[in-house]
Order: sequence, then structure tokens, then C-alpha cells
Amino acid sequence: MTARSAGSSVSVRAPAKINLHLGVGPVRPDGYHPLATAYQAISLFSTVTATEADGWSLTCSGRDGVVVDDVPLDDTNLAMRAARLLAGHAGRDRPGDPGVALHLDKGIPVAGGLAGGSADAAAALLACDALWGLGTPLSELLALAGRLGSDVPFGLLGGSAAGHGRGELVTALADAGRYDWVVLTRDAGMSTPAVYAEYDALHAGSVVPDPEIPAALVDALAAGSVRDLAAAVGNDLQPASLRLRPELGAPLEAGLAASALAALVSGSGPTCLFLCEDGPHAEQVAAALAPYGRTVLAHGPVPGAEVI
Ligand code: C5P
Repeated sequence: MTARSAGSSVSVRAPAKINLHLGVGPVRPDGYHPLATAYQAISLFSTVTATEADGWSLTCSGRDGVVVDDVPLDDTNLAMRAARLLAGHAGRDRPGDPGVALHLDKGIPVAGGLAGGSADAAAALLACDALWGLGTPLSELLALAGRLGSDVPFGLLGGSAAGHGRGELVTALADAGRYDWVVLTRDAGMSTPAVYAEYDALHAGSVVPDPEIPAALVDALAAGSVRDLAAAVGNDLQPASLRLRPELGAPLEAGLAASALAALVSGSGPTCLFLCEDGPHAEQVAAALAPYGRTVLAHGPVPGAEVI
């Protein structure tokens, strides 16, 4: 691949992630928790556009009701960190080297437990790689992604996948199904470190076993069975999220009462997920959840970050 001409741009779309099962082990000396998780990419997307520029800049918009007021527009933004990390990796960080203008168009709720910032970072890696004509092998992009954040490699991979380590070691899972989800978002996001700290407090003094992905879940995906999947989903962080946000209990119960096949908190929350039989069933469940927040219909699995 060759580098593009000045002023040209590349857009990449990356999906939200959910954790079909999030198994959390005892806190490690580095403060992270060992995970055994089954990820699924669902059809909520952010788009990152990378444009050739002399300097480094970042702009951001939200769509589909996504509020971006709290998104940092400086070098702390994960997408900007991704672009700079790739530039350094490619030796494009000498004085006088050009930068890039990034624009994030976010369709994934911020701080919702859907890895929206990680999707931006995955998209930025791929967009800059294409813009700069680097052709970085996927294995190298995955390693760079893992340095940026635990969920970023999955944003590149997409589909359904197992995650180990702190979540950054991803391998694809066979998935023959299509799963319809109601995604219930809340206005106020949650801090992932705060939820993990609450998890530690809840387990203080007890022995936490090493986490595992249930074999029944892997089998359910391979068979494409929505009902078997519903019986196997779970989230070890959910009790901690509910301790911090007890008001999430009511919509989880209401979704089940409205015949959702399963209801769970997404990642560290506060987004809640409701697994449904199909699209029409999801519309029915979403109607019952309307009093509890904004509902969006999504389906998975969908591909990871891709140039559009
Ligand atoms: O990897 P990432 O930067 O996305 O993680 C954000 C925070 O979530 C970490 O600083 C840590 O507090 C918590 N975390 C964790 N164990 C993991 C992943 C994240 O404790 N496996």
C-alpha cells in the first residue's frame, strides 16, 4: 500500500462491544484483574476519519443521541493516543514529521460499558495505518491496541471472541447465530476503575477462583442457539455495578418481566442488555423498558474495525 496524497482522508467504522460473559479473577499486583470473557461486537458504531495534516488535532461529534460533552479533545483521548502510538511505531514521530487530523463521530454511548473509547482507538489505529500506507500486520496492530487499553484489540477483531489476560488477548469464537439485543443506556456514565474497586471491596477476605468462560456459552455460540446463549450469559461485575447504582435493578427486572430471554449489565455498566428472540421481540421488550432510559436495538455479531 502507498501513502495517500496530502489532504486525503480515510474513515473507519468500529463497533461497540458487549461481554456475553465477564469472568473476573482476583486483582493482580499491577491493579488489573485477570479476565475470562466472551466478547460480542454489536451494531452500534463510531466512525473515525483521519485526514492528512501538518499538526495533530482532534474533533468530536455525537450521533443517535450520543452526548460527547465529556470526551477529552487533547492528547489524553484514546484515539489520539492510538494515532501517536502508531506514528511512533512507524518512525513517523521525528521533528517536522506531519501529524493527522482526527474526527470522531460517536454512535456508542460514552462511559456506558460498551467500550466506545476503545472502538475509537481501534478505528484510529486502522485509519492511520491506511492513511499512511503502512500495511502494519494485524498481529502488530493487536499488540499496539493492547497497550492502549484492555478492550481495544477486540475492537479490531470484532465478531464474537474470547478475551483473556486483562481482556487484551483475543481469539475468535465460532458463532453461527444472530442475536438481537435491546441496549438500555443511561445519562450518567460509570467509571470502570470505580466498579472494579467495588468488586474488590465485595470480595475482600474471600478466595476468588480463576475465571473461566462457560463451555455452555461457547457451545451455544457455535450452535447459534439464542436460548442456550441466554442461559449462559453472566457478568461478575454486575453485583458491584448494582451496589454503586441500585436503580439498575428495576430495569433488569422489568426486561425479564417483559419476556427478555436474559438481562445483564454491560461490562462495568451502567448500560443494560436484554437478549431477545428476534427483531420484533426486541421492539416489544424495548417498549416495556422506555420508562427506564433510552433504548436502542442492536444485533451481533458484527465485524470489527473496517475502512468504509
Ligand atoms: O485497560 P483499560 O485502561 O481500559 O482499563 C481501565 C481500568 O479498568 C483500569 O485502570 C483498571 O482499573 C480496570 N481494569 C481492571 N482489570 C481489567 C481491565 C480493566 O481492573 N482486566
